[in-house]
Amino acid sequence: MEKTFDQKMRCVRLYIEEHTMTDKTQEVHCKYLGDTEELCWVFQPDKFDQEELTLSLRETIARCLKCPVFDEAIRRSTGRRKSDKLLTLTLHRLLGQLVDYDTELVSITGSLQKKVEELAVLKSVSEALLKTQDLRKVMLITLTGVTSGEAFGFNRGMVFLVNTDTKTIDGQIGLGHLERDEAPMVWSQISSQKLTFDDLIDRILNGPDLPPNRLTTAIEKISIPLRPEYGILPRTIIDKQSYFVESFEGDIIVDRGLRLIMKDTPFAAIPLIYEGSPLGVILVDNSINHKPITAEDIATLETLANQAASKIENAILQNKLEVRFAELQHIHALLMDNQKYLVKSERLADLGRLATTVAHEIKTPLITIGGYADRVLKKAEAGQIDLQSMKTMHDEIMRLERICKEMLDYSQKSQLNLEQNDLNQIISETLHLEAGKLKYQNINFETDFYPEKLQLLSDKDRLKQVLYNLIHNAAEAMANGGKIKIQTGRKGDYVFLRIEDNGCGMESDVMQKLFTPFFTNKRNGTGLGLPVSKKIIDDHGGNIVVESEPNKGTAFTINLPCKNEKLGKEL
Ligand SMILES: Nc1ncnc2c1ncn2[C@@H]1O[C@H](COP(=O)(O)OP(=O)(O)OP(=O)(O)O)[C@@H](O)[C@H]1O
Ligand SMILES: [Mg+2]
Repeated sequence: MEKTFDQKMRCVRLYIEEHTMTDKTQEVHCKYLGDTEELCWVFQPDKFDQEELTLSLRETIARCLKCPVFDEAIRRSTGRRKSDKLLTLTLHRLLGQLVDYDTELVSITGSLQKKVEELAVLKSVSEALLKTQDLRKVMLITLTGVTSGEAFGFNRGMVFLVNTDTKTIDGQIGLGHLERDEAPMVWSQISSQKLTFDDLIDRILNGPDLPPNRLTTAIEKISIPLRPEYGILPRTIIDKQSYFVESFEGDIIVDRGLRLIMKDTPFAAIPLIYEGSPLGVILVDNSINHKPITAEDIATLETLANQAASKIENAILQNKLEVRFAELQHIHALLMDNQKYLVKSERLADLGRLATTVAHEIKTPLITIGGYADRVLKKAEAGQIDLQSMKTMHDEIMRLERICKEMLDYSQKSQLNLEQNDLNQIISETLHLEAGKLKYQNINFETDFYPEKLQLLSDKDRLKQVLYNLIHNAAEAMANGGKIKIQTGRKGDYVFLRIEDNGCGMESDVMQKLFTPFFTNKRNGTGLGLPVSKKIIDDHGGNIVVESEPNKGTAFTINLPCKNEKLGKEL
């Protein structure tokens, strides 16, 4: 098309040249341009270099077509022959049409060029959006795309988001100036740093968080109820469609705070929609250069808004999760504090109870011993030996010794003498010592041992102490004899030992106090057997589980870790 145009123009020029009468001695300046040195080629075609004229032909002809001199030349050139006249007029019209086509072509090329630039920005924006989950950064990247001179070039961009809790639409972030006199400064800052669109994006993604600008500070104060009667922003959300506000007159309602920012500048509001749900609004204006906002601008902005919406939805979710996580962390910290407090106060209460009980526990045998000692002394003075009283004193002293030892076991940090032991072996050794005594009480044993060794890092004597306690408790629960079943096994990283009796069993209130120091139902019991046992198992990193049914029996299961990380060793 370009070539045909130039060729045709050349023909027209040559034709006109041949048919124009000119005074070749005088220089005639272009009448159309007025006060200019430029010559009119209609009068002096000889003065024009062919090449030069061809190069500037487009402008020259467009100008000449509006020039009365050129018109006159055409008029004069016609009239000799009818065919000449027809040809000249046809060429003249053709010329006019070609100039129109040319103008159209230039404008189409311009808008195509703009489209290409916009697409490039859309691409860069979507690539940048993939690199962050941070809501503020997502909104800043979107607004940079909207205001970048390399594409949309809006003077200002703002984001408002729907707050589902308060049912309002709240101002979030703005890019651009708040007052008009601020704009040249903002722009000169950016242009003096020669920042490209990609530089700006890079700065948002990787640079430090900048403090909010004046526009953002003003927008953050805006919160509009999400109801249609509250104006254009809620309507953009509710109607899920873009609005262009050209004038603030008539029934257009704009929030007061927003109006102060917009200052009667026409603006466009584009909804941010994700999977049919509106999340917010992007608002743009050209308050500095007053460039009109076209329907085409709005259509392209809608594409950008769609891209941004999915990222904004993600970022909002991420934000909510982070807030929830922070809340949970806070609650966790509070619980930990509370737990520490409770444990501490529980321990203090324990200590108080302990002191009272210890005083009572020790006082009773001491009074008994005192009474018997008096009696022994009196008899001794009379030259008699009171063996029975001495035996009772001995028993009570033994009991006192036991209380003191168990209390120390319970209250002190135990020093475990750790070595590799086979749990089956420890049980066998204990049973060997106890079997005779228990048989005498009419108690039978049944064992079901794991067929392989159950190696674990442990303090053999302490574990035996636990076994004694459990076996004695079981035996004491079967006053008329019965059966104790002992089973061992392995479950994952744990080995277990289960001691089951078919004795009297326990009511739930007894079960609840089992591990409380000095809780006993026995006349001569200290009530320290189970608390001490639990402490020993705890020290080994294990736990105790109790099952019991009144009149049916009780089972204690002890689980001990094979890999004892708490003890810092691995088996
Ligand atoms: N196998 C069991 N069957 C029924 N009750 C049990 C059993 N084991 C423990 N108990 C109950 O739990 C209480 C506390 O036991 P713990 O071993 O701590 O102290 P104790 O046996 O009473 O005293 P000590 O161990 O000093 O002899 C017992 O008095 C008993 O009432
Ligand atoms: Mg006991």
